Amino acid sequence: MRIGMIGTGYVGLVSGTCFAEFGITVTCVDKDSQKINRLLRGDIPIYEPGLEDLVAKQVKAGRLSFTQSLKEGMQDADAVFIAVGTPPSKDSGHADMTYVYQAAREIAAMIEGYTVIVTKSTVPVGTAREVARIIREVNPQAQFDVVSNPEFLREGAAVQDFMKPDRVVIGTESERAVEVMRALYRPLYLNETPMVVTTPETAEIIKYAANAFLATKITFINEIANLCEKTGANVQEVARGIGLDGRIGKKFLHAGPGYGGSCFPKDTLAFTQIGQKYDAPQNIVETNVRWLRGSFMLVAVMLRE
Ligand SMILES: NC(=O)c1ccc[n+]([C@@H]2O[C@H](COP(=O)([O-])OP(=O)(O)OC[C@H]3O[C@@H](n4cnc5c(N)ncnc54)[C@H](O)[C@@H]3O)[C@@H](O)[C@H]2O)c1
Repeated sequence: MRIGMIGTGYVGLVSGTCFAEFGITVTCVDKDSQKINRLLRGDIPIYEPGLEDLVAKQVKAGRLSFTQSLKEGMQDADAVFIAVGTPPSKDSGHADMTYVYQAAREIAAMIEGYTVIVTKSTVPVGTAREVARIIREVNPQAQFDVVSNPEFLREGAAVQDFMKPDRVVIGTESERAVEVMRALYRPLYLNETPMVVTTPETAEIIKYAANAFLATKITFINEIANLCEKTGANVQEVARGIGLDGRIGKKFLHAGPGYGGSCFPKDTLAFTQIGQKYDAPQNIVETNVRWLRGSFMLVAVMLRE
């Protein structure tokens, strides 16, 4: 099988390389000429354990290549993945969809034969339908289905997370597209990795809800830490004491300045915007966002002093 990976950033490069390891022929496409030139020289723009060796191995095997040409990336592709950025907008912090929709327009013009278009970027609910609408508008003859297939990899453990995920989420209404996705993820399917096959809307919410839930655990233990500080209790021991309860779990219960990373702050903020848009306020997530702002302000004051 053959795929095009549009956007060769963190997610695109890791996913593309790991799909090549699964035996798929992958062409990674990026508009950024510097990034592509570095990759063509074997110089990996990000540090991720195991990635450099895997890229070298797959390039040598002829299964992984890099290009600036979308046409090349889409040649004979069974599926085309959109893995471009969705940064927070400057005004309200909702996910800026400019890159995703632009990629959809560019892809639409080049679809030849049945192609599965996959949104791998973290996107608001309704995006898969909007991508399908854009493609139909640009190329009414195109034969395609759209799938939402969010990614859950952690920076620092991204290769391992892709190769041994807790689950794979496939959101589409097309049986034909599900078959293509199952074939692409075949090694995981054989490993009995749980596959959540669902609607595009559900898949899109799963991604934000997962990040929002994890951020909530961090905010929760930080609130408990405040109470511990005022009462002489030990928050680490409280975290251990509750985390050993199998229903709660130990992870993400480390009290600290707040949650960080490249995704949690932007995704929690975007999720509150989605809740407001659909008149279903995400009050718990809004509290997380307020907490994070508060701790940023505290750190800024401490740095000034
Ligand atoms: N970084 C993570 O750990 C992580 C984890 C899970 C999901 N995500 C989500 O995945 C998406 C991508 O994140 P990232 O960190 O890889 O982004 P990134 O900014 O590192 O990379 C995006 C790449 O897309 C390229 N690009 C943009 N438009 C293009 C186009 N039309 N054609 C070709 N290339 C184009 C850019 O040049 C850039 O290199 C985001 O929605 C993010 O929220 C990220």
